[in-house]
Amino acid sequence: MDKSKRATLKSIADRVGVSVTTVSRVLNNQSTRYRISKKTEEAIRQVAEELHYIPNQLARGLRLKQTHTIGLVIPDVSNPFFASIAHCVEIEARKAGYSIMFCDSQEDTQVEIDSLRLLQNRKVDGIIICPVGKDAKYLERLHNNGMPLVVVDRYFPELKCPYVVSDNYNGAVEAINYLIENGHQTIACIQGIPHTSVNNDRIRGYKHAHEIHNIPLDESLIAGDDFGETNGYVAAKLLLHRIPRPSAIFAVSNLISLGALRAISEEGLNIPEDISIISFDDQPYSKYLSTPMTTVTQQKTEMGHIAFKLLLEQIESNTHFDNKGVILPTKLIIRNSVKKLAQVSIEKQVSIEKEE
Ligand code: RIB
Repeated sequence: MDKSKRATLKSIADRVGVSVTTVSRVLNNQSTRYRISKKTEEAIRQVAEELHYIPNQLARGLRLKQTHTIGLVIPDVSNPFFASIAHCVEIEARKAGYSIMFCDSQEDTQVEIDSLRLLQNRKVDGIIICPVGKDAKYLERLHNNGMPLVVVDRYFPELKCPYVVSDNYNGAVEAINYLIENGHQTIACIQGIPHTSVNNDRIRGYKHAHEIHNIPLDESLIAGDDFGETNGYVAAKLLLHRIPRPSAIFAVSNLISLGALRAISEEGLNIPEDISIISFDDQPYSKYLSTPMTTVTQQKTEMGHIAFKLLLEQIESNTHFDNKGVILPTKLIIRNSVKKLAQVSIEKQVSIEKEE
């Protein structure tokens, strides 16, 4: 559209015969506050409709120093885990009258920093980020400069801003306990990005479960270095060729287990007869696999919901919450991907949630 023909507050005011201020107040739903008559309000709205008036949110944002836009940064929008969180944040934001400026950091720290810089320049009112998880420096700077921030999933304990995470440690302990109580002693682990909080806590839980049961841990059974499918495939190929072969694999993410399934299939092995597997991240497809997979599910919807609420509180109260963390429990969903090599202790059967 030719910018010179675009309807403005002034063109509406001239057409109706009122001031620009009156038009602005009506279109910003402040008629009651400024006692503007119903007749004037209706006339203004009708002319705005006729002229196809579209508010200039950028100009309004600069004037009010608020854009009603939040930034959302996630490592991989094609990953169902992050897509679920993004979906929920968008729904909550829309309900609260906010729009989303979305960035996919492609599991790359530099892309993440570029995305954060872009959002800052676009004057978003706040940012929700699922970090790649390797470097908190730019987030630290944003937080110290007063940008409302909420970190989800791979958080940084040293970064004093609100966060929402799963109880990854206990989720891993419960999964490995279940394997051990089914008689598994050589349990391989395909890990994600080393030194990220999520990976650290899941590995810590994997190791602690071995200690609880006094099973010596062979660290060479821990393979891999990122949360993706290729990493799962390659690591599984290597682990499946060990002698003796591990009796079970603990995959610390949804995409890792997808890669492992491909490797297991290529090796001509059956689940759970030849190899058992448990994966973090229950997915819609988990129950429909040829062998429905036992998984550790995270509360993705709740993570998105709580993250937005924490951000909105900061924006609307114009205050900075330091380190207001929310840790959500995980849940072990038992299906058919773990072979019983030995009797499961009765008390454990009772305490573990069964797949309905
Ligand atoms: O690929 C998704 C995984 O990485 C999830 O387990 C989530 O916790 C993220 O860190």
